Amino acid sequence: MLPENLGPSSPEPWSEHDFAPIILFLRTQIGITLEPHRMGLLQARLRSRLQSQGFASFTQFHERILKPDPTGPGMQLLIDLSTVNHTAFFREPAHFTFMAERVSTFLKEAPNVPVRIWSAGCSSGQEPYSMAMVLAETLPALSPQRVEIWASDLSLEMLNAAARAIYNARDVQGVSPARLRRYFLLGKGPREGSYRIVPEIRDLVKFRHVDLRSNPWPLPGDFHIIFCRNVSIYFADEERMALLNRLAQQLRPGGWLAMGNGEILPTIPSSLRKHSPSIYRKES
Ligand SMILES: C[S@@+](CC[C@H](N)C(=O)[O-])C[C@H]1O[C@@H](n2cnc3c(N)ncnc32)[C@H](O)[C@@H]1O
Repeated sequence: MLPENLGPSSPEPWSEHDFAPIILFLRTQIGITLEPHRMGLLQARLRSRLQSQGFASFTQFHERILKPDPTGPGMQLLIDLSTVNHTAFFREPAHFTFMAERVSTFLKEAPNVPVRIWSAGCSSGQEPYSMAMVLAETLPALSPQRVEIWASDLSLEMLNAAARAIYNARDVQGVSPARLRRYFLLGKGPREGSYRIVPEIRDLVKFRHVDLRSNPWPLPGDFHIIFCRNVSIYFADEERMALLNRLAQQLRPGGWLAMGNGEILPTIPSSLRKHSPSIYRKES
């Protein structure tokens, strides 16, 4: 007997032909077009996830899950599996030193105006928590009333991990022993080998689910500093320009935008000035 989704004209389960509707769904419903090697990676990750849940083919997943509810959990699974989430504590460390100096200056200039920072595309949280740790070391009375740290991502899986704030030994490899002692709680019993960010640092970060391609963004705006590092590398050129324009609009005059060190921007919005290879300032 043929498996139930295999009619005479059904594609071979897990074949390229079987995967075609998923590629189309990604492009038309989510706006993601992946390079061939990343599409191959997604295909392998999705196959293993679907097989473990008892699906017989990509077609079956498409017919049963994606088609009846195109914006539901099936779509979220595709997003989670197709985004590249690599991150690290204090990645590109000069950005954090720069941020802390700018925050101190903003607070000196206007002590009663809270400084607002956004980690856009925060993955599993290392970036916003690094911001909070560096600020805790720089500012004597750091509180959510003085500095707001917003952090967002497209992937719910990543956001949940970020909010849990539990990391393993490999994740904290680049963290200095002094910071490990000060900002992490060591897991005990079944949690041995894990490191959880202390509540004082966790409480400084507010997480939101934001697709940077969607409009509007459910965030307050008027940011002093935005980090959007290693996110737009997967965007098409015109999407990246649209994103930069919108990020620039969300900055207050004199505010700063940090992109990833490896990100090449062919052009930048007219309201931004290049300060260094990956840092931009909005005209005052
Ligand atoms: C490579 S990680 C970078 C994490 C961190 N910014 C860093 O530099 O270490 C890229 C993150 O961008 C997120 N992302 C990709 N496309 C996005 C979109 N359209 N909207 C929001 N986040 C997105 C991914 O889910 C992923 O967590």
